[in-house]
Amino acid sequence: MRSEVGTTINLSDYAPPSYLVPSVALTFRLHPNRTIVKAVLDVRRHPDTAPGDELVFDGDGIELVSLRLNGAPVDDVEITPDQLRIAGVPHEPFTLEIETAIDPEANLALSGLYRSNGVYCTQCEAEGFRRITYFPDRPDVLSVYTVRIEAPKADAPVLLSNGNPGAAGDLPDGWHFAEWHDPWPKPSYLFALVGGDIVGAFDRFTTMGGRDVKLGVYVERGKESRTGWAIDSLKRSMKWDEDVFGREYDLDVFNIVAVSDFNMGAMENKGLNVFNDKYVLADPTTATDTDYANIETIIAHEYFHNWTGNRITCRDWFQLCLKEGLTVYRDHEFSADMRSRPVRRIAEVRLLKSAQFPEDGGPLAHPVRPTAYREINNFYTATVYEKGSEVVRMLRIVVGDDAFRAGMDLYFDRHDGDAATIEDFLACFEEASNRPLTQFALWYHQAGTPQVTVETDYDTAKGRLTLTMHQSVPATPDQTDKEPMHIPIAFALFRPDGSHFPIADQSDLVKNGVIHLTKRRDTIIFDGIEEQPVVSLLRGFSAPVTLDIDQPETDRIFLARHEDDLYTRWQALDRLATDTILASYRQSNGETLPASATSLIGLYGEIAGDETLDAAWRALALTLPGETTLGREAGLNVDPDAIHVARETFLAAIAERHATAFADLYDSLLSDESYRPDAPSAGRRALELVLLDYLTVSEADGGRARALFDRADNMTEEAGALEVLMLRQPESGETATARAAFENRHGDNPLVMDKLLGMIARIPGPDAPGRVLQAMTHPNYIETNPNRVRALVASFAGANPSGFHRPDGSGYRLLADVIGRVASQNPQLGARLATHFRSWKGLDAARRDAAHKTLSDLRNMRDLPLDVRDIIDRTLS
Ligand code: PHE
Ligand code: ZN
Repeated sequence: MRSEVGTTINLSDYAPPSYLVPSVALTFRLHPNRTIVKAVLDVRRHPDTAPGDELVFDGDGIELVSLRLNGAPVDDVEITPDQLRIAGVPHEPFTLEIETAIDPEANLALSGLYRSNGVYCTQCEAEGFRRITYFPDRPDVLSVYTVRIEAPKADAPVLLSNGNPGAAGDLPDGWHFAEWHDPWPKPSYLFALVGGDIVGAFDRFTTMGGRDVKLGVYVERGKESRTGWAIDSLKRSMKWDEDVFGREYDLDVFNIVAVSDFNMGAMENKGLNVFNDKYVLADPTTATDTDYANIETIIAHEYFHNWTGNRITCRDWFQLCLKEGLTVYRDHEFSADMRSRPVRRIAEVRLLKSAQFPEDGGPLAHPVRPTAYREINNFYTATVYEKGSEVVRMLRIVVGDDAFRAGMDLYFDRHDGDAATIEDFLACFEEASNRPLTQFALWYHQAGTPQVTVETDYDTAKGRLTLTMHQSVPATPDQTDKEPMHIPIAFALFRPDGSHFPIADQSDLVKNGVIHLTKRRDTIIFDGIEEQPVVSLLRGFSAPVTLDIDQPETDRIFLARHEDDLYTRWQALDRLATDTILASYRQSNGETLPASATSLIGLYGEIAGDETLDAAWRALALTLPGETTLGREAGLNVDPDAIHVARETFLAAIAERHATAFADLYDSLLSDESYRPDAPSAGRRALELVLLDYLTVSEADGGRARALFDRADNMTEEAGALEVLMLRQPESGETATARAAFENRHGDNPLVMDKLLGMIARIPGPDAPGRVLQAMTHPNYIETNPNRVRALVASFAGANPSGFHRPDGSGYRLLADVIGRVASQNPQLGARLATHFRSWKGLDAARRDAAHKTLSDLRNMRDLPLDVRDIIDRTLS
């Protein structure tokens, strides 16, 4: 085990590895409790370093069985809990043979080699390979791997590893073996092995260069009918990366394995992606439209890593965003091309605002490229992923489409086979665009969400619009003074008839409809504007900032009605809704609405019935801002109960005003067509379900939701209707009957039962902690499985503010108890749960005190793993 206090690793201390391992041969003899791993390493000194004679490899919780150097036993070896040290190794290249023993069955941390429902599988990112064998377990040591797996044929008929398949055959005593060879040098975190009684579904893809690739999606026996969508998504991803980025696949096989126990979404191991089965398995009766969309984007994400992550990897873990931010950007672009671009953008921004903004504004804030960590697993964050993607998106705006593509090509060309840095990446775009990106690079270095305030002044006589812009970046842990950033603000000036004023470029300040704010304060003047324009700023959410503009209500309504960029139209509407709900929260604890709400409420009716608008867009427009985002925008001393009331008050007012129109529209959307997962059909269902929620607010019995639940032939409508019942009328008889039917139908499908756990967890109000405790006794809730814990506990803590933030602290104690239990088995899962405390300082006094007490108790817990301790310490500081 690693030390519980842990040392801080600093980017500034980076030094190249002293020893390189150009090739590795691994032999696994799989056994549930004692798997033997033989590693034969070709080791040589790094040419650029002058190391001492001592060789130091990483290890974590493994038993050394034997060790030979150039064939001879080694005497001078020291084994510590996390290292293997050999003194006096030769200066010339040598061979190291290491035999270790590990216990996959006992591995509940799901890092290294473990078993999931009897299937052997590995997870090596970030530092799991050291739980398999001793190795320089760092991403800048690249090796060619040859792997031989031996196992009893009955237990593990399928044996997979990275690269291309080699020999396979039978061995005595019912055993068999399979060999794999991966010609592409890779870091140890991309190693993978799978062995088990799993079943493959196969297809083929011919690359643009004519390579015939065999595709396989492996799942637990009995689940093979749910692999079709994953394969379809994979083929579209492969084609898209060729068409849009010119990237071709580079092995003869590409395999995906779905396992039930997994800490994250999925993992991009070379040629052998391992997935959380939630992001592979789909059919109409068990997966929702959201599941289909998530599978599509995560399959793409992992596939895209083959170039952004695998062919070009990270020099060190500080560079994590080099692969993650860039790959998220690529999967966003893919999804935008597959579906509706504005609709996808809205989903991205909602996620950014609900997950990244609170991180950036709280005690866990860190730069997209951090400079220090105690536990790297705690840096797989919304900031590294989501903000990291936004930074790439801005880079494209800043250098322009052509230079962006040229810069990407240069990056692929120049760094193929490298373990690279953010500086390497940016240098490619500086070269391609012929402009310095020094200031732009601050997006990687400065934490915190920049705030931009804008004052507008229109001079009728001169026909001149003046925008005075001011930016500031809030202080964040370890960063108090910030430099001004390069903030690209896409904009338009509208005439009253909805047309655009033409805008001329102004050297570097205004280009192609984008204001490039680079100073702390800047004034931008537009002449030739004959009448008072309506200013639309931050179109497409061109930068991850908060924007404060002195704009009359009528202009905001104008944009919510006439902005012709549909993302931005949603943004205007969302802003209006947020301001209205927050005004109600401030003025009356959410009990009554401000007078200004009237015209906005009318607008919701217009939008709902506007058949020229995509149904998916209308569904999002009718979805009010979430309570987490509202709570964050409410500032300090927040009372989540009053936020909940305010949002409900507004929602009820919309429902009441449009009761008849919504009912008619709802009826017209019900369809007898059989289920298809495509974006237009999904949009229709999304609109139908949002309307159902509005219509159920004022219904006494939930009859409409019950009727949809009964007629549904697909999981989207079935779960959607049940959710409306559960959240709107948790105690009604209709709800109880529907819930029982759901459990009866799907009790044997854990992923579907997770949906029910999530609904239970999200029922708002004071009874929430009690309900969650009750649900923990449900036979489907298994605390060693991260999906179950996330479905129930993370939904409760992360998606039910009024239920979690009880002033008596009961929600906090519940979470702390789960963390205490989970952390000892699975530190990473425990640490993720602990991040739900991150916004405690913004709450009102009673809640703050309760959270502080719970956090302090947690910190005092004995044997708290470093992962959790790191989060708690930072959250309290
Ligand atoms: N690298 C994975 C991804 O984003 C995430 C992951 C990290 C999975 C660590 C497992 C462990 O694609
Ligand atoms: Zn990734």
